Amino acid sequence: MGGEVQYDRVRAIELRDGAVYLLDQRVLPSEVRYEVCQDATQVASAITDMVVRGAPAIGVTAAYGVVLAAASAFGAAGPQWRPAMAADMERLRRSRPTAVNLHWALARMEEVMERLGPDDPTAAMTAAATRLHADDIEANRRMGALGAALLPAQARLLTHCNTGALATGGYGTALGVVRAAAARNGVAAVYADETRPWLQGARLTAWELVTEGLPATILADGAAGALLKRGDIDAVLVGADRIAANGDTANKIGTYGLAVLARHHGVPFYVVAPTSTIDRACKDGSGIPIEERDPLEVLAFRGVRHSPEQAQAWNPVFDVTPAALVDALITEAGVVEHPDARGIAALFERVGR
Ligand code: MRU
Repeated sequence: MGGEVQYDRVRAIELRDGAVYLLDQRVLPSEVRYEVCQDATQVASAITDMVVRGAPAIGVTAAYGVVLAAASAFGAAGPQWRPAMAADMERLRRSRPTAVNLHWALARMEEVMERLGPDDPTAAMTAAATRLHADDIEANRRMGALGAALLPAQARLLTHCNTGALATGGYGTALGVVRAAAARNGVAAVYADETRPWLQGARLTAWELVTEGLPATILADGAAGALLKRGDIDAVLVGADRIAANGDTANKIGTYGLAVLARHHGVPFYVVAPTSTIDRACKDGSGIPIEERDPLEVLAFRGVRHSPEQAQAWNPVFDVTPAALVDALITEAGVVEHPDARGIAALFERVGR
């Protein structure tokens, strides 16, 4: 089992020898180790536990999870493989609530399943998942080029969370724009919010940047206002987990505050996301489910509690930035300036969807 996907340096998700290999993002960069998922249940747990994270990466991983589910359903039920997959599909669907790419990927795999007969579906499903993975990388490269064209030479950029090769099929969304800008006109500085409590910025974005030989300056999330006030940032670039039909954008907690700060200081705020992140069934941000995780993620660090035992924590892991604060939405299908319902509908019309 397994197809050919053209990777950049980081191979974070791979289907090989009937298993899904995931670069464990909980321990990077101090350890580079892979978690091997032998079945769809293990894939779903890996998504829930954030072995793999980032909306597009979750979608790609779920698609490979469907391949494992199909192979095992055929092994158990033969020609009746399709109904035998139901429980696995449901487990994958419930693995994380906010990233709509998960549902998009499962729907795309289901479309392929519908067209198959009673024979072993494994090869066809593998081909479909591999194609979905390759398409994601291709979309990222396109967004990279479109986004880089919006930035000045030697730009000074600020980003939040991790939106790079680790968070996607490869290359990255907002971090893909950083990569493309660096190749095109150079970047003078890349500031990465540390991104409490999982430190996706301090661990993962910083690791990707230094691995590529790009400048990396980490700041505490609360320092972003002071940095923007100094006038040292040309643009803020972030990814998205789900974008409503009107452009309201759910992304890593802290994004909303960053968007308010960027607007206050007159700095452009760009959302970079593939069209698979746009949920057209969701009218506005109020309809986006926001994941809340274990309070211990905030009260403790790596199992060591730093807050008083009596203290509680609120741990929403995403927030919604109103579309009015987004200067442009950069997708593989084009750039929507000042996104709103009309602009997003026109984007889909242009590409015939
Ligand atoms: O909780 P995470 O790490 O999965 O959150 C990830 C983000 O919020 C990213 O910004 C988003 O998924 C876009 S990744 C290209």
